[in-house]
Amino acid sequence: MIRFERIELSKLATTVARGACCAAALLYIFASAPAAHAYPNYDDGAGNGCVECHTAFQGGNPAKLHAQHITKFGITQCNLCHPSGGGSSPVKTYWSGPGGGLGCAGCHGNDYGETSSLSGLPKATGYGLRQAHFNAGVTVCSTCHIPGELGSPSPFPAILPENVAPPYFGQATNGLRNPCDRAEEESTMDADTTGLDNDGNGFADWPDDVNCAEPTTTTTTTTLPVQCEAAPTAGCVVADGGALLVNEKAAGKEKLKVTMKKLHTAVTQGQFGDPLAAGGTSYAICIYDQADQLRDSISVARQGDSCGSPPKDCWAVVSTKGYKYGDKDLTADGIQKMLLSGGDAGKGKIVVSGKNNAPAGQTALPTGVAALLQTSTQATVQLLTSDASCFGLTVTQVKKADGSTFSATGP
Ligand code: HEC
Ligand code: HEC
Ligand code: HEC
Ligand code: HEC
Repeated sequence: MIRFERIELSKLATTVARGACCAAALLYIFASAPAAHAYPNYDDGAGNGCVECHTAFQGGNPAKLHAQHITKFGITQCNLCHPSGGGSSPVKTYWSGPGGGLGCAGCHGNDYGETSSLSGLPKATGYGLRQAHFNAGVTVCSTCHIPGELGSPSPFPAILPENVAPPYFGQATNGLRNPCDRAEEESTMDADTTGLDNDGNGFADWPDDVNCAEPTTTTTTTTLPVQCEAAPTAGCVVADGGALLVNEKAAGKEKLKVTMKKLHTAVTQGQFGDPLAAGGTSYAICIYDQADQLRDSISVARQGDSCGSPPKDCWAVVSTKGYKYGDKDLTADGIQKMLLSGGDAGKGKIVVSGKNNAPAGQTALPTGVAALLQTSTQATVQLLTSDASCFGLTVTQVKKADGSTFSATGP
């Protein structure tokens, strides 16, 4: 207990000195008996909420939180925080109006697939933010945020690593793209020169946080879709089971199906990247023959796109495990469906299926692949991502390789 008080005291001394915090923090920590439901708001109208320590967004000291958020992060949608347009209140941590939806947690939380106990809607959750407060000596958060309370699971889930982008990142509503890039996240609203420690592990951004790769671009320039390599990529997560089927028996009606089961290691959603937003992850499916020569190369660069009619998002989340893709029009190289699902070691699964539909004028799926694999006694198929992990399976039990069908299971 004495140790805690020391940490809090010394921390407060620094924060007060930096001007990032306020006298109310002192009062708060020492008088601490949180009014129930005080914190779901930035300010509940009676001065309770984040405002107690992070003083007024508009005016106040430091005067800059509001303008800095909007200008530095290129925010064009006031409802990222406000309930009903600029200036409306109360501003909530877990919910906001149309065009936003997630409140402060859209950037200061992450998608754990949870539902808000107050709004009844999907929310982002601030596990990392609360851990960062705890690290800073602020222990009040855990007086309400307790496993099993406020709709949280018990125990709390493992905190997603820094490289997993919060849901507002990558949206057209603002300029934030990469949670590891301090050039994007840093502002002058606090004294340090780092951005957010999104996962609260004590290290913010590249190069400090081990989960962060060096940011390649600091701006919103679109990156090129990932391409297959001439030979299989080394170091991919291996599937301990699965199958490859290339069926080209009927011209114009070709089919492709790739199944990778029992991914050898535990796989997080972040290892599949994030295909939901424009500027997010693109994928390549690459098939190699027994001599490791590239024989088929498929690109699915539909990050943030709409598919079908009426248009809906091509990509959707699969709980907190991964993503799925659906496109009836077969626009991306004939691919109709993709399922990317992680989980514990041995549980992850990837399924990709595609086809041609000649009568409708669709011949997007590359053909002639079965012929190229005719003499192969094995094949390797890989799924590459533009900014996350890669996955691979080698199939050695060839069932059919007659030039119009290649069918094999593995390994
Ligand atoms: C009891 C005081 C207190 C309250 C209440 C409080 N904070 Fe903080 N907050 C702090 C301190 C202390 C720090 C660390 C100081 C710093 O980084 O300048 C901090 C840091 C932060 C950071 C930076 C984290 C990082 O990774 O660098 C964010 C963002 C933040 N708070 C948001 C919030 C939000 C949102 C709320 C309301 C839900 C809130 N705070 C409520 C005291 C508080
Ligand atoms: C990063 C979150 C965030 C964004 C984005 C944001 N605001 Fe705010 N805004 C706040 C908070 C928090 C308050 C303080 C609310 C309170 O004190 O209850 C506030 C207060 C205001 C106020 C003062 C309201 C009052 O009653 O004093 C105005 C005006 C305002 N915002 C306009 C805008 C406009 C216009 C936009 C879009 C260009 C915008 N805001 C975007 C967080 C945000
Ligand atoms: C569009 C994304 C976005 C939204 C929405 C957002 N923030 Fe932030 N906020 C950031 C980023 C990025 C930083 C990091 C600035 C830095 O490190 O210099 C930050 C910094 C902060 C800080 C400064 C912490 C410190 O160390 O002093 C506070 C406080 C804060 N935000 C509170 C809020 C609150 C309260 C809301 C909701 C009303 C909110 N933010 C909504 C992106 C966002
Ligand atoms: C008085 C109780 C209370 C305290 C203390 C409290 N919160 Fe909360 N907080 C809530 C409630 C209630 C919600 C809404 C949860 C929901 O709707 O599912 C919430 C939601 C949030 C959210 C948005 C979504 C989520 O569930 O993560 C953030 C971020 C958050 N709190 C951060 C903090 C931080 C940081 C602290 C400590 C500085 C803190 N809270 C302290 C009650 C509290």
